[in-house]
Amino acid sequence: MRLATIPAFAWGFLFIESSLADPSACKLPAIADVDLSSGFGGDYDSAPSLGTMTGFMIFVDFIDAVASETTEALRDIFIPEGPDWFSTASFGKLDHQITADTSKFFRMPNDTESYGFTRGLTWEAHNRYIQDALEAYEEKCNTLKPVDILYVVATKNATAISFSPTFMGPVTTRSGVKVGKKAVTIGYDAYVKWFSKVLNHESGHAMGLADYYPFSGGETGMYVGGWSLMGYINGASPDYFAWDKWRLGWLQDEQVDCVSGAGKTTHTLSPMDTPEGNSQTKVVVIKKNETSALIAELRSSNGNNAGSCAKGVLLYTVATNVATGTGPVVVLDSSPDSIGCDGTPFGNAPLALDGSGASSYTSSEFGATIEVVEQDGEEFTIEVELI
Ligand SMILES: *[C@@H]1O[C@H](CO)[C@@H](O)[C@H](O)[C@H]1NC(C)=O
Ligand SMILES: *[C@@H]1O[C@H](CO)[C@@H](O)[C@H](O)[C@H]1NC(C)=O
Ligand SMILES: *[C@@H]1O[C@H](CO)[C@@H](O)[C@H](O)[C@H]1NC(C)=O
Repeated sequence: MRLATIPAFAWGFLFIESSLADPSACKLPAIADVDLSSGFGGDYDSAPSLGTMTGFMIFVDFIDAVASETTEALRDIFIPEGPDWFSTASFGKLDHQITADTSKFFRMPNDTESYGFTRGLTWEAHNRYIQDALEAYEEKCNTLKPVDILYVVATKNATAISFSPTFMGPVTTRSGVKVGKKAVTIGYDAYVKWFSKVLNHESGHAMGLADYYPFSGGETGMYVGGWSLMGYINGASPDYFAWDKWRLGWLQDEQVDCVSGAGKTTHTLSPMDTPEGNSQTKVVVIKKNETSALIAELRSSNGNNAGSCAKGVLLYTVATNVATGTGPVVVLDSSPDSIGCDGTPFGNAPLALDGSGASSYTSSEFGATIEVVEQDGEEFTIEVELI
């Protein structure tokens, strides 16, 4: 945080100055019975988000979908791009080490339709798929060393393995030996829609992140537009939200301004998608109560957001009592009646001074007004007023 350019005495007269709380006061705790609650400290036997996250990748095909590509060609779709994305997103704090056994495609014992992907996959059916793959692998005298995430990659020909879900574990062989915390089974959608970023979405679940698109079947971008790949994998600005980066340990407490209580504060933000910045502040968390906060972060077109055309202060709410797939994070659109430079309604959600979006936003629910007051190169200064 940097103080405003207004002389200090003016503050005392004009406003009640709300003090910044210790960042830990803004670490809304995860709620145990809320599926993948977006708070801190959720207990999901998650894959580690700091240091090394280990992965093991095997390749499978089927009697009715014999592979005609090479295992190496499939591996190269995901590695190294997927791990590189994590390295960038985490500012070098997460090293995603995936070992791929490209020796062959292991043959699954049943046909593609029998696994039930196209009929609404159940936990049991998904477990059977993974255990069949492990058995096929072990039949060839292979043994698995336990990893954080097992990746089972299906041949492109297996169109009935239609999507790429995460199995939240524990991952065991049929005889009960634990081989992973989580498993990601890569299917056909990865080859026609998502490519390497499917790895970053699914492995996000392995680290405890929720889905930000609606399970109800509404528009994919209904809650968060293209502002996180946990919402829309192919969004224009797909980096994880700064809130999630803080939860994962990729942003430090010193980079977070925690605001609560009535009054006015001023904050200079540097972009959340760059490792450094003149201002160390990357995110402002406006805490409402123990389950809700309004967040401000600065989006730019750096790192994993290089394809983004929008730049500005993105606002969203987090609710830790809202389950995965039902809107735990909701982006606030500062210009709801127009579309952004990416052609989507949420594309110009951020606040800016250059006319690409509105310059201020008021949330009556949070009793908060956030206004951009200055833009200096890569940095934006905002004023937050809480009533
Ligand atoms: C697999 O796909 C290739 C083309 O991508 C096709 O030539 C081949 O017939 C397919 N095989 C099976 C068993 O589906
Ligand atoms: C899978 O294949 C085996 C062997 O052919 C068969 O006994 C079993 O019934 C099949 N299971 C399903 C669910 O199709
Ligand atoms: C916390 O704030 C949110 C957002 O306004 C609200 O929906 C929720 O009911 C509040 N919770 C409590 C316990 O007051």
